[in-house]
Amino acid sequence: MNEQMNTIAASKRGLNAPASPIRSLAALARKSVDRGVDVLFLNIGQPDIPTPRGMIDAYRNYDETVLAYAPSDGFVEYREALATYYNTLADGAGIDADNIVVTVGGSEALLFAMAAVTDPGDSVLVCEPYYTNYAGYAHLLGIGVDAVTTTPDNSYHIDPAEVEAAITPTTKAIVIPSPGNPTGVVLTTDQLDALVDVCRRHGLFYIADEVYREFVYDEPTGTRAPSILNCDGSEEIAIVIDSVSKRYSACGARVGCLVTRNNDIRTAALHYGQARLSPATVDQYAGLAALDTPATYFEDVVKEYTARRNVLVQGLADIGITVASPKGAFYLAVALPVDDANAFSEWMVSEFSLENQTICVAPLEGFYNTPGLGRNEIRMAYVLDQAKLKRCTEILGAALKAWNNGQPT
Ligand SMILES: Cc1ncc(COP(=O)(O)O)c(C=O)c1O
Repeated sequence: MNEQMNTIAASKRGLNAPASPIRSLAALARKSVDRGVDVLFLNIGQPDIPTPRGMIDAYRNYDETVLAYAPSDGFVEYREALATYYNTLADGAGIDADNIVVTVGGSEALLFAMAAVTDPGDSVLVCEPYYTNYAGYAHLLGIGVDAVTTTPDNSYHIDPAEVEAAITPTTKAIVIPSPGNPTGVVLTTDQLDALVDVCRRHGLFYIADEVYREFVYDEPTGTRAPSILNCDGSEEIAIVIDSVSKRYSACGARVGCLVTRNNDIRTAALHYGQARLSPATVDQYAGLAALDTPATYFEDVVKEYTARRNVLVQGLADIGITVASPKGAFYLAVALPVDDANAFSEWMVSEFSLENQTICVAPLEGFYNTPGLGRNEIRMAYVLDQAKLKRCTEILGAALKAWNNGQPT
């Protein structure tokens, strides 16, 4: 046999796909768990809050003989109910079922939106630190990412003038979450209006990632983050990314949606949706049931997250780290007194423990576009109960002491 073997190689795109910094420490953490260490996980936005009972019941009650495909844009009854939700949220937004494409989580909505507004070689504008999948999907689509840097010293404030100054000839859209991950920043109505104005003047789309809409703190009960759907002049340019994952603590449901009043964007999203056939069938019934979740559920959840945030901010202050209280979502970006938060986080989860407990966090460098930024920062997701969060800050304090003293543990 002297058949010639051709070399086989994965694509450069595949080989160069950025790894998720959110999950990167998971393998090390797993080894520590296997050794019997109690690892407290603050690296992933997986809440421990119970999912509304109505959603769980919808799964239990599903009783068809064939588990069939759903329509590519989602069940019409689900889209109609979602339209009612958006019109309640944004008075006069004029959303109907045809403005909505149901997707596999907010993640797919994001991918469809970015693919609907760019061609290869175009770029999107984001604010760093950003939700890392913005860069991951840009890489997949062969488009660039330009970033406006926001900083902890002014609570990651987003300045529309700085966003405007960062627009380049290849920019096709801005992608901004509010409330933000990892910063917790909540855009005001004035900021949203100013950003819409920037987009309109420059012919850009505004991909508004609103998956944390209900999680706003220090505001009257029931307050939601302002939606771009409420902004005058946003009809043609706004693409809303949404999801049941965080809102109903239902990350495993894999249901989200894209909302647009722009027909071309709706058509593009629908065509991508047809290519992947359909979103999950049963999960949409759970999503439909979720819309009946009582307001008291969110009141309790927001109270709980507010208390958790306060415990974490105070616990950090107790170990000498000052952070501003984020106004939304459930993440805290923290600058640590270390040079290399990556190395520190890896060491903390794999080699350090305090009374056999340690913590797993997400190093923030991978949330930045600009090389070198975020090297001393981490993200902590406050998805554990208050006592555990307090303990996390004690462990972090002990770990920092040991690391900075170069002490073996
Ligand atoms: C800002 C933001 N957008 C979108 C998503 C997508 O989540 P999912 O695909 O579970 O809806 C996440 C998940 O963490 C997120 O933090």
